[in-house]
Amino acid sequence: MKSDIVVVGSINMDVVVKTEEIPKIGETVIGRETIENPGGKGANQAVALAKLGAKVNFLGMVGNDDYGKKLLSSMKASGVNIESIKSIEGSSGLAFITVDDNGNNSIVVIPGANYNVDNKYLSQHIDVIKESKAVLLQHEIPMETVKEALLLSKKMDKITVLNPAPAKELDEEILKYIDILIPNEHELSRISNKEILDIDSVIEASRSLIAKGTPRIITTLGEKGAIYVDKDTIKQFKPWPTNVVDTTAAGDSFIGGFLSRYILTNNIFESIEFGQKAASITIQRFGAQISLPTLEEIEKYDFTKQGM
Ligand code: RIB
Repeated sequence: MKSDIVVVGSINMDVVVKTEEIPKIGETVIGRETIENPGGKGANQAVALAKLGAKVNFLGMVGNDDYGKKLLSSMKASGVNIESIKSIEGSSGLAFITVDDNGNNSIVVIPGANYNVDNKYLSQHIDVIKESKAVLLQHEIPMETVKEALLLSKKMDKITVLNPAPAKELDEEILKYIDILIPNEHELSRISNKEILDIDSVIEASRSLIAKGTPRIITTLGEKGAIYVDKDTIKQFKPWPTNVVDTTAAGDSFIGGFLSRYILTNNIFESIEFGQKAASITIQRFGAQISLPTLEEIEKYDFTKQGM
């Protein structure tokens, strides 16, 4: 049962529509095709980690429908330990994703079984947390569970990482239990209650969260790269130039890449760079879990030839 990382999070079947343009409010567009493939921020991050060689345990739930079976088998095939995942009566999580020709997307999630991941289930699986080095969470399970998992993990002296996606307000008390927060600019804005207009505002918002108890913030900025901020340091990371196919799971790939390195090296900058490499491969491929690279793929990849 021992693992490097336990992900406490969501598992979704992604129902993807490919279309030329994402429809605006009130607009109807004609799509090209629909494709179903495994996703969910928690599951994607766990799969990303496992494909990069980390030992990963997962705490979460699927429904007892056909999707549930497919989702579990995708995670298992990628090397995630699925022993503690509970299959419950009802529907699995679903995500309806529209992807346009520029690789942009919009997503609506119906949580299904993910919203049953409660504190009772967590307390029944406390050993899984006890036997891991780090705990990784997102915002696609109930916020009370996110809070409890962070609190328990911190008490057990684990490395705690929160990807606050999708954007939601955060109980300020939670910030004390997070070692590394990895938002995008929208999530940073929501949590800090500050408008994000430029790099200076990212730094200011990050510093306001540091003052409330989270020591390290890595903000992902899409095509503008990422910024790391702690109380003494600010470092900006440029992205690799890339031909974008589909940005779905880019953040999940970054987080998997980052954490797979960080638990081995404790080197935050090198780990961010590794996360960026993983994400840049992911966005050149279609889909969520199917787009996540293996360690070998990253090692063999010539990043200097990208986007030419
Ligand atoms: O981060 C991408 C994921 O967000 C998708 O796989 C979808 O399931 C939603 O959770």
